[in-house]
Amino acid sequence: MYDLPVQLIVRLKGDVVLVNKSGETVRQLGTGTGKDFMGTPIQLNDAGKGLCLANISQGEFCLHDDAAVHYEAMTAHKTAQASERQHCTGNTLYLQQPTDCTFLRWKSKFAGMALPLLIAAVVVILTFLWLKSRRPKKFPPGPPAIPFLGNIFSLRGKPAVKILEWKEKYGDIFGMFNGRKRVVVISDFYILRKLFGEEAASGRVLQSSIRDKDSSLPIGIGLISSQGDLWKTHRRFALSTLRDLGMGKNWMEDTIIAEVEGICQALRETKGKPFNPKVQLTNSVSNVICALIFGKRFELTDPKFSRLTNLIAENIAILKLDFVAQTAPFVLWFPNAVRTQIFKARRNISALTEFMKQMIKEHVATSGENLDAPDYLYAYQQEKLTGAKTDGKESFNELQLVGSLFDLFAAGTETTSTTILWMMVFMIENPDVMEKVQREIDDKVGRQNILTNSDRPRLPYTEAVILEVQRCGNLVPLGVPHQSREDIQLEGYTIPKDTLIISNLFSIHRDPRYWKNPEKFDPTRFLDENDKLLRPDGFVPFSIGKRACLGEALAKMELFLFIANLLRCFTLELPKGKTLSHNDYQSSIVNSPDPFELVFVPRF
Ligand code: HEM
Repeated sequence: MYDLPVQLIVRLKGDVVLVNKSGETVRQLGTGTGKDFMGTPIQLNDAGKGLCLANISQGEFCLHDDAAVHYEAMTAHKTAQASERQHCTGNTLYLQQPTDCTFLRWKSKFAGMALPLLIAAVVVILTFLWLKSRRPKKFPPGPPAIPFLGNIFSLRGKPAVKILEWKEKYGDIFGMFNGRKRVVVISDFYILRKLFGEEAASGRVLQSSIRDKDSSLPIGIGLISSQGDLWKTHRRFALSTLRDLGMGKNWMEDTIIAEVEGICQALRETKGKPFNPKVQLTNSVSNVICALIFGKRFELTDPKFSRLTNLIAENIAILKLDFVAQTAPFVLWFPNAVRTQIFKARRNISALTEFMKQMIKEHVATSGENLDAPDYLYAYQQEKLTGAKTDGKESFNELQLVGSLFDLFAAGTETTSTTILWMMVFMIENPDVMEKVQREIDDKVGRQNILTNSDRPRLPYTEAVILEVQRCGNLVPLGVPHQSREDIQLEGYTIPKDTLIISNLFSIHRDPRYWKNPEKFDPTRFLDENDKLLRPDGFVPFSIGKRACLGEALAKMELFLFIANLLRCFTLELPKGKTLSHNDYQSSIVNSPDPFELVFVPRF
């Protein structure tokens, strides 16, 4: 906009001076009337109240000030708007208020140096940030990182596989970087057990490009992403409520069995045609958690419900891009694939949040109707009123309720259903194992009888198969990241406060220190010589310690009732000409097998 041979005119103590772009005085004008160096007549207001420039032609220059402190070019008169400071008459501009010229003096002095100065400042800031984010003293060793980007590029595709390679090279505790964020990876069962037993390692990362502060569900609330007192209060409440719901009249078991019967019926209706069971299975499992939290179930083929469960699957898949967006936030500033996905995840969160709110509204409208099976929502409202289970009832507000329902719905849907899909893959790969399970069920309980929780002790091989599916399926390969809440000393290393801690469950589940022939699918590793079920060290599908899976008891019951009854009712077969391998899977925070179709052959 400014384009003049004269950078500015400064009048100090009554003098008007034309200064060129290098800051040298071009002409001393003095007071009164004169011409500038281009020959333009200049009239100085000797009353000291304004400086008047005559004959300023449109688009050339104009001027400010009575004390004549500065004088600048403008593209047009209209840009020097009439204001309390200045006014225009024809081609003459009067400026009437004194102005501080410090900036202009500075500008004049440093005009030529602006760019080099800017570059120097940027270099200093970047160097400072880089030094700050380098490996601090006693930080565990690890792969070299690119400044500011860290190791993010090495973790494309299947991060757990790359991390396993680094574990081989750098050991059970190694350090790396997500952008500038420090990350420590733990790959030893005993070290993990010790670390995750500590309060200091129980934090969560409170940044998210998907759930930012403007989100309908900001990060840091609910059960999974909260920390500190809020998390402790609500985790205690959730654990005790789920436990209460599982007691009494076996209400929880009955709810699961009703869903098992529903999915078995749906599979019978496929009449031997190849069928992808994912949607109906997911809805069926999700119905269990819906019954627990909202006191409501949905039809397995309900398109609205299928859409909601699908939104969760989509967000789990997108979650790994959150690291990219946090490392390089500028990817959200222009159209590209990462941005598209992150924005989609945000929309999905909004839709799911709306669903939770709708459920709360409906529940309030019908509260009091179904009190022999009180659900999580009911228990929450009670806690808000009485504070009977926790000592933090003031934190039982609506946003925290929405967050908790969201977490239970999401964590309780995709995890269990995907484990059942993994079971199907391993049964197709190991038909002898499937046959042995079916024989055990036939012999010990009978093929026609629905299996219940009380049958578990009689079916140790079936139980062992479920555990081996969990070990080999590695549903949550790198756990849910923790964050250190203070500096932690561990095995001679320091994990500084605010470091992300990754539990390398994938590596632990295939570590020869805990597992003989870890690559082999072998359920007998979970049985002793008397066919009694074993719980070997190194088995951590639900993680371990203070933040271990809150739904573990529910998930175990669901896995047994769904898997045992599905194998009781059906023999699984691959459609002719199709193949299926446990090596074909999508990797994000949850590992899920690539989509497949099976034939469900009824056994009776
Ligand atoms: C096979 C099924 C499941 C597996 C393998 C699984 C696994 C996990 C894992 C690895 C964690 C992270 C623990 C950590 O941060 O160290 C977790 C957390 C969690 N899970 Fe599960 N989960 C399953 C089912 C469920 C179910 C059915 C529910 C719902 C009741 C649930 C609710 C949660 C919650 C709320 C957390 C967060 C706990 C916290 O941060 O304190 N999970 N789960």
